[in-house]
Amino acid sequence: MIPRAILFVCLGNICRSPVAQGTFQSLLIKHQGDQIAKKWLIDSAGTSDYHKNESPDPRSQESTAYHGIDISNQRSRQIELKDFEKFDFIFVMDSSNYKNVIKLTDNSLYQKKVHFFLDSTFPNENRQVPDPYFGGKEGFENVFQMLNKASEDWIERWKQEERV
Ligand code: 4NP
Repeated sequence: MIPRAILFVCLGNICRSPVAQGTFQSLLIKHQGDQIAKKWLIDSAGTSDYHKNESPDPRSQESTAYHGIDISNQRSRQIELKDFEKFDFIFVMDSSNYKNVIKLTDNSLYQKKVHFFLDSTFPNENRQVPDPYFGGKEGFENVFQMLNKASEDWIERWKQEERV
């Protein structure tokens, strides 16, 4: 697979998008190996700056650690205009993230980079990754499973496209 630059976006950049970043990165290493995975740019950001410089939520860290993925080094940051230039794909978790990201730019080429992350698993359904922030532990495991499956499905889709 050709290396790509991917940005995962949610509201706070402490619950969902750090898990997406971690699980996607780990699957990429599994599928492509360390050397190729290192050439990809994978990052995450929030539409808000509510949690600027904070580590991922302890419940997100716990759920990914349970699956053997360490996201403790990540720090929250807010999405910026230059991200539209830098990244090929901007994956949002829900429709509120989608609206907030789209309204940052009038450039239609930039807007076309924005996709619902669950589109790989459920094409054209605009399915949402629920915000687990105000819920319990099970919500975080549910989110992990969705994000892990969506990551697998994007990787599989891209592998197939590049065979054509
Ligand atoms: P995230 O979850 O967008 O998945 O990081 C949230 C984190 C913080 C808040 C809301 C959602 N908050 O209101 O502070």
